[in-house]
Amino acid sequence: MMIAQGDPRLAVIGRRLARVARVVPVMSSKGGVGKTLLSCLLALALSGRGARVGLLDLDVTNPTAHVVLGADLSKFPEEDRGVVPPLMGGVKFMSVAYYSGENPLPLRGWEIDNVVKEVLAVTIWGDLDFLVIDTPPGIGDEVLDVLSYFPKYEPLVVATPSPLTMASVKRLLKLLTEVVKGESIRVVENMARNDSSVIADLAKELHVKFLGKVRFDEDIDKVVGDVDALKRSRMYGDVSVIAERLLKE
Ligand SMILES: Nc1ncnc2c1ncn2[C@@H]1O[C@H](COP(=O)(O)OP(=O)(O)OP(=O)(O)O)[C@@H](O)[C@H]1O
Ligand SMILES: [Mg+2]
Repeated sequence: MMIAQGDPRLAVIGRRLARVARVVPVMSSKGGVGKTLLSCLLALALSGRGARVGLLDLDVTNPTAHVVLGADLSKFPEEDRGVVPPLMGGVKFMSVAYYSGENPLPLRGWEIDNVVKEVLAVTIWGDLDFLVIDTPPGIGDEVLDVLSYFPKYEPLVVATPSPLTMASVKRLLKLLTEVVKGESIRVVENMARNDSSVIADLAKELHVKFLGKVRFDEDIDKVVGDVDALKRSRMYGDVSVIAERLLKE
């Protein structure tokens, strides 16, 4: 961890997150498996079921959740001794992209850490049942460092059934079991095209919970940027089942 122990923002971050009940970072070992889409749809689905939900895009080098939700980055969120996340489809939405805009941002480790701390220190979440976090891909320290500011979290790992990704999914799950309790780690299969059970089997083998499959939805790219249309998609229907399961636990 790269926390500067003397940093006054750390105490502020603790206060900002004090009334957040459950933190769900959406993670993956590889890029492009659908973390961003899933985290946005999950946040919308949880909110649609009456939960108070925040969505935080912490993918500092490549933030994209605002694209999925159609959030206008030029309208900087309201500030009143902190930043009030704007509501997108009922979800309180905050992104590092409000700070970085659409500019390419080749940040080094300590700079990423600084942006994350800054966003966590200023954002006023208030009372939340869930804070869903979109994270960058990977199984390195950079992802765990980003999460180190949260007192506790329940990772939701997104996996695709390709044989090329299995080894790295396994590594990520093993790494997570060293940091958080096994029962709070969940796996979903995304872009499922058949009834293969490889991901479910892997979850069983590693004693983590399998929350279900999200089928490949060939129309999903057409509705990106439009919350109402996203909510009518087949992918949203599948993610809603996962949201239900998460709510019940
Ligand atoms: N269930 C699905 N059905 C069809 N296409 C999907 C599905 N999930 C994701 N995709 C496709 O995969 C692309 C990448 O999704 P997304 O950006 O959410 O992945 P990511 O894991 O966040 O990527 P990165 O690692 O770069 O952040 C989407 O643009 C979409 O085309
Ligand atoms: Mg992403």
